[in-house]
Parts: sequence; structure tokens; C-alpha cells
Amino acid sequence: MISTFGKWASALAFLVMPAAVAAQSKNDMRRLIADNLDFAVQQYQVLQDSTPADRMPRTFQHGRSVTSDTEWWCSGFYPGTLWYLYEYSKDAKVKAEAERRLAILEREKRYTGNHDIGFMIFCSFGNAYRITGDKKYKDVVDTAAVYQITRYRPSIRSIQSWNKNKRLNCPVIIDNMMNLEQLLWVSQQGGDKRFADIAVTHANTTLQNHYRPDHSTFHIVDYDLEKGTVIQKVNGQGAHDTSAWSRGQAWGLYGWTIMYRFTRDQKYLEQARHVAKFILHHPNLPADKIPYWDYNAPQIPTSRDASAAAIAASALLELGQYVDKKEQQEYVTAAATMLRSLASPAYRAKLGENGGFILKNSVGHFLANGEVDVPLTYADYYFVEGLLRYKKWYL
Ligand code: GLY
Repeated sequence: MISTFGKWASALAFLVMPAAVAAQSKNDMRRLIADNLDFAVQQYQVLQDSTPADRMPRTFQHGRSVTSDTEWWCSGFYPGTLWYLYEYSKDAKVKAEAERRLAILEREKRYTGNHDIGFMIFCSFGNAYRITGDKKYKDVVDTAAVYQITRYRPSIRSIQSWNKNKRLNCPVIIDNMMNLEQLLWVSQQGGDKRFADIAVTHANTTLQNHYRPDHSTFHIVDYDLEKGTVIQKVNGQGAHDTSAWSRGQAWGLYGWTIMYRFTRDQKYLEQARHVAKFILHHPNLPADKIPYWDYNAPQIPTSRDASAAAIAASALLELGQYVDKKEQQEYVTAAATMLRSLASPAYRAKLGENGGFILKNSVGHFLANGEVDVPLTYADYYFVEGLLRYKKWYL
């Protein structure tokens, strides 16, 4: 027999519990974010020590550090992560290292070998400008946008991602959506409107040609430049032509969210929501929400791609800013699961290990046996970005 007081107490507990649980989970996230960012600052000292002054870190494989030159598409991620870590820690040593790396990267502001000058310059110099307000960094981004649009091809209403090769005539890849942020930002900051016009035109072409009815994306659409038509839609780093390569889905999700941020055009928001649904409701997404390298990989279970999860988590956190509370909760809860999983020992390195990278278990190109189950600079970058976004928007 429950007393009147007991009935009251349990009714009160029922009412109060959700708020208490929410506060507890906020506290847990607050602690997790601080622990991981503090860890990242220390761990990146190890990465710094194992990276020659004129090179950029790339991965750590077979017990050895692998570095790249500054032309490699990932060259902006290490300095970009350093800027995020400086923003968090205000540690002058982190800033000094970020500045040293920008000094060797600056020459790439005129890079036209592929479309990735957005990743290279905006993730690095763009963050440097946002955090310091120093105009010299903005000048580099402005210059990069000028060179970026030299790859715009009016006949196909797209920026050409890669050069013609034996297999492909004029390839445009879904990853290209990420590089549009630089163009949109330069126009928004008072630059030539043409940059944003090209970004919007490219995005509209991608929306039309890259996506399948289930809202998954092809990796590559190959165009005929003379006729302005699609030749073929094919695989690059995924399992096969009609499979859903995990990182490609994440690049798309992030890209449509960027497009909505700058244009407020509902069709981009709708597309981001469709892609979020594809990812979060996919039957092959594991319970910890770290995807296999391809949603249709031939043998599941197989290698996970921590980078795809980190990119998706960061994108979902921004997408959560543009939807109603109920939908926001779905995205933020999913992103929190991804961040918690990535922060667990299954995916996060121990201090001093993993060549100084934060996350283990990403996949560059599975079928080419290139960078499988290894750390990658972009996994770290979007993981740190996701932690900071969670801290800024949801705590
Ligand atoms: N942009 C190349 C990749 O995601 O691997």
C-alpha cells in the first residue's frame, strides 16, 4: 500500500526525472568534451614532434609516421585542428605551431591541380582568420577562391573535381560539396558574388545528378564537357557503383548543411534531412553509430570508418540548429552517440600512441588497400570540430 506521500513522491520523481537525466547527460558530455579536448592538446604535441617542419602529418601505419607535402588534399587539416585546439586552450605553443604550419601551406593558395583548395585553405587559414581576426589570413582565403573557380566548367554547370584520366573524362565527386564553403564565405564577406553563384550552380547540378531515389549518393559523376551531359555515374572509394560509400554520404550531409547555412534555400535543408535519414536509419549502421567503410560493404562486419562518423557528427550538430526541437533532439542524440563512441578506447588512441593522432580506425580507400584501419587528419579535424560545436550549441 503506497502512502499519500509515497504517491506524491513518485509523481514528483516522474516529473523531475527527465530534467535530472538531461542535466546528468549534459554534465557527462561537458566532462567528455573537456577530457577529449585536453587530451587532444597533449596528443598533438606528440604529432608535432613526429612531423618534420616542412611536411604535414598524413597517417600512422605499420608503426611509422607517414607525412605529406602541402599539395596533398589533406594539408589543411592539421593546421586547422591546431587552430581549433588553440581556440579551446588558448595555449601559445599550439598557436605557434599552427602559425608555423600555415607558413609552409600558404604557397598552395594558388593550387589548381584539383578541387581541394577549399579543404586545404579554408580549414586552415579560414579558421585562423575566424579566431584571430588577422586580415593577412583572409587575404589567403580570398586568393584561394580566385584559383578555385578556374576549375568551373560552364558547360556542365560544375567545378571539375579531378583532371581527365584513363577512366574518367571530367569527374565531379560528392566530396566537392565541402569545398563550396570557401566560395560562399568569400562572397558573403564582401567578395565577388560570382564565387557564391558558382557554388550554388555546382550544388544544384550535384543535387540533380549525384543522388539516387533513396537519397544515397554516387561518389563520381563523369561528364562530357563538349556535350555538357553525364557519361556515367560510378564508384571511386566505395564498394561498387551503386553502393553507399560512407564518407561520401557524410561529405554530402555536411555539404547540404553548409549550403543551407549560407543561402537559407529550403531545398538544401530538405536534402540534408534526407541524407541524415539515410545515414541514421540505415540497417547496416552499427549500434555505436560508427559506420562501416561502405553501407553496402560486401562483408559486414568489416572495417569501420571513424572519419565518416566524425564528419557526420559535426554536420548533424549544425543541422540541429536549423530544425524544430524534436528533430534537433534526434540529430544531437545521434551525434552525441557518435562522439561518445569515438572518444571510447575502441576508437580513441592512448596518449603517446597512434603516432600522435587522436582517433584510430579510419579508412581512406578500402579496396585499394590504401589507409585501412589507420588514423587520418580529417577524422581528427571533424572530431575536434564536433566536440567544439557541441560545447558551443548544446551545453
Ligand atoms: N576527398 C577524398 C576522401 O574523402 O577520401
